[in-house]
This record gives sequence, structure tokens and C-alpha cells, in this order.
Amino acid sequence: MTAPADDRPRCPVDHLDLLDPDTFADGPPREAFRQVREAQPVYWFPQQDAHHGGFWVVSLLEDVREVSRQPEVFSSAERGAIFTGKSALDEEVMIASTGLLMLNMDPPQHSAQRRVVQRAFTPRVIRDLEVRLVDIAHEIVDRALEKGSGDFVRDIAAELPLLAICELIGIPAEDRQKIFDWTNRLIGFDDPELSSSQEDGELAMLEMYVYANELALLRQAEPQDDIISLLLQADFDGEKLTPDEFNTFFLLLCVAGNETTRNAIAHGMRAFFENPSQWELFKQTRPATAVDEIIRWATPVIEFQRTALSDYVLNGQQIRKGERVVLYYSSANHDSMAISDPEVFDITRADNEHVAFGGGGPHYCLGVQLARAEVRIIFDVIADRLPNIAPTAPASTLRSAFLDGIKALPVRYA
Ligand code: HEM
Repeated sequence: MTAPADDRPRCPVDHLDLLDPDTFADGPPREAFRQVREAQPVYWFPQQDAHHGGFWVVSLLEDVREVSRQPEVFSSAERGAIFTGKSALDEEVMIASTGLLMLNMDPPQHSAQRRVVQRAFTPRVIRDLEVRLVDIAHEIVDRALEKGSGDFVRDIAAELPLLAICELIGIPAEDRQKIFDWTNRLIGFDDPELSSSQEDGELAMLEMYVYANELALLRQAEPQDDIISLLLQADFDGEKLTPDEFNTFFLLLCVAGNETTRNAIAHGMRAFFENPSQWELFKQTRPATAVDEIIRWATPVIEFQRTALSDYVLNGQQIRKGERVVLYYSSANHDSMAISDPEVFDITRADNEHVAFGGGGPHYCLGVQLARAEVRIIFDVIADRLPNIAPTAPASTLRSAFLDGIKALPVRYA
């Protein structure tokens, strides 16, 4: 099944280990990725693992798009979309525990579930939510101002995304801290400061399941005017989520919608600190293009994977059936063939066709409008009410080869 190893081009950069979280400890390896894009944009990363033997690295924006838009060739279900990079056994565990996530499904199963959950993300739902989010953003900033100084990530960046999901789904206020802790434990297991162990991550996942299950059963028995009830009730086509499907969807939302947007906001603030003229420009003109530039700059999700269901030639490289293909969004968003002067943070950038939300296709981020609204709202409120916000110490970053995260960003608020 697998081609002779020598056929496949190797990484053009010495010692670039994309599996090692330390490679990303201070942010993605920008210069190494640049050399990869120039010298060998699609290459094979061999692994000492009898089961898979390695994976293809995809570094250019157009190639990320080409793969994302062909689910019939590049499957999310075969080995899941979440690339553990670890052993075959770890991967089996991951697939077994996350197989019900829509992220790890292919059409038509994926399309059916996506149709149902889309009910929670209609323009009307998001518009109504935005009104609430403006109030919440002001409350968050009120609290920060009272403190005078603190950690921007904890005080501001983490708060809005979490509360937005809780508002969207209808999580009772008293349970929100629990959700914050669970999502931290789920994601942080490569970072010794945040957790924990894989076991602790799995335990957090289990606790979330139990919680969501109880909530689903409650709403099933007594529907309310909220999204949970809407998803659990059949529409005119008879489509709905079972409580089991709801549990996994809930888990996906809490992870997909939380850490990502939190890091987009934190990276955005840091980018403004590093580019004071852009902060001045933002405060004065509030260009609509700022939101997507912040999100491109942040690219919170470093990569997702697909598995080839048939042989395919991608940018001149022969991919064989069964091989894994890893889409490095964090490289693609700095691809100078697709984005002009990608190393410049420019909030007026037009035609910003970045792939931070994925390269299109059926899995394109479900929360894209919500994420954009959150980033727009929080930076508007910060610019209005904390115009002199300034860093007091350097940011500390997450040690992870999957999420480009900022753990802490000490600031004074006024
Ligand atoms: C800046 C913030 C965000 C970023 C960078 C981001 C990024 C992504 C990416 C890269 C994907 C995978 C796309 C693919 O495989 O082609 C994805 C999928 C997804 N995102 Fe987001 N996301 C963000 C915010 C959100 C929010 C706020 C929510 C919900 C509250 C959300 C919910 C989802 C869901 C449910 C999926 C799976 C969709 C599917 O499999 O059909 N995301 N996101």
C-alpha cells in the first residue's frame, strides 16, 4: 500500500520536528515554514511507527484549499481530523473517543448532522446574540478596569468566548466556571503548566459528557426556548440530535469555540502592542478588515489532518491511498503567493483569503460568524474604554503542536 520511502521528498530544513511541541513553544517556526514553502511545500515526514510510517506536510495556502474541498478523496473520518502525531495506539484511542464528533465525519453522515446543528448558527441567532455580547463585553471590561491591572488572557480574552457559547446554548450561569476548567484540562495536556496528563484530559471529557447528558435529558423532558431544545426536537424533515449526539456536539463547541477565539483575541492584543501605529489606526478608524487580519495573524489552529481514500497527486507529489495529509494552516496563512507581505500585521488588508477557519469544504468552521462578531465586539469595547492598555511583561505561550495559544499576557488596563 505504501510507496517506497525513498520516493517521497523529505523536509528541506534540518531538524524541523513538527511533532515536537517544543518546536512551537515560542510560536510557530515562521522562518522554517518559509523555507519549506519555498523549497519543498509538500513533503513526507517519516515516523518510526510501523502502523502509519509518517505523514505528508502541506504548507501552501492553495494546497490546503485543494485538500479541504475534496472530502471524497481526503477523509476526516478514516483516522479523524485531530492529528495526535503520536503512536498508532494513541490514535486509535483518540478516534474511539471522538468518532462521534462531526469534525471526524465524512459526507453524507457529516452533512446530516451539520444540517441540524446549523440551526444554532443562523444569522438571526447570531445577530440576537451579538446584542447580548456587547453588554457582556462591557461587563468584562468593567471588571478589568476595577482591577487596574491583570492577565489579559484570563480577565478578557477567555471570558467572552466562554460566555458566548454558554449564552448560545443556554448553559446556566452557575455552571460556567466548570466549563472553563474542563476545556482547559482538555486542551492543555502537552503543557506542564496547564495540566495534567492525558488521563486528566480524558476525565475532563467524561465529566463534560455527564454534564451535557443531564442537560439534554432535562431539556428533552421540558423543552425551553433555547438552542439545546431546538437541536433535540425534530424539524419538519424529522431531523434532530439524539442526546448522545448532543453530548459530543457540546464538547466540540466548548473546545472549538473557546480556545480558538480566546487565542485570536489574545494574539490580536499582543499584535497591537507590538504594532502601536496599528492600534492608533484601529482606535481612530475601526476598519472592517481588522477582524480577519487579527484572525489570520493569530491562526489559533496550527493544523488538522485528513487521510487519502485514493491515490492523488497534490502539487506534483504522489499521495497514496491510506496516507495521512496534515494541513498546516499556520504556514499557509503566511504564504506570500496567496497573501501579500504576510509578515506584516496590516488591519487594512483587503482580499484577506486566509485559512484560519479551514480551507473551505464541508468542515469549514461552523462558528465563523460568531467568532468574527466576538473579535469585533471585544476590540471595539477595548478601544473605547481601555485605549491606553499596555503590556507589563512579555506574554507566555502554550507548548502545543496543535494550538497556537497565549497562556498569559500581563497588562495594565488604564
Ligand atoms: C477564531 C476562532 C476560530 C477559529 C480559528 C476556528 C477554526 C476552525 C477550523 C480550522 C475548523 C476546521 C475546518 C476544517 O476542517 O476544514 C473549525 C471547525 C469547527 N469550528 Fe471553528 N474556529 C473558531 C471559532 C469557532 C467558534 C466560536 C465555534 C462555535 C461556537 C466554532 C465551532 C466549530 C465547529 C463546530 C467546527 C466543526 C465543523 C464541521 O466539522 O463541520 N469555531 N474551526
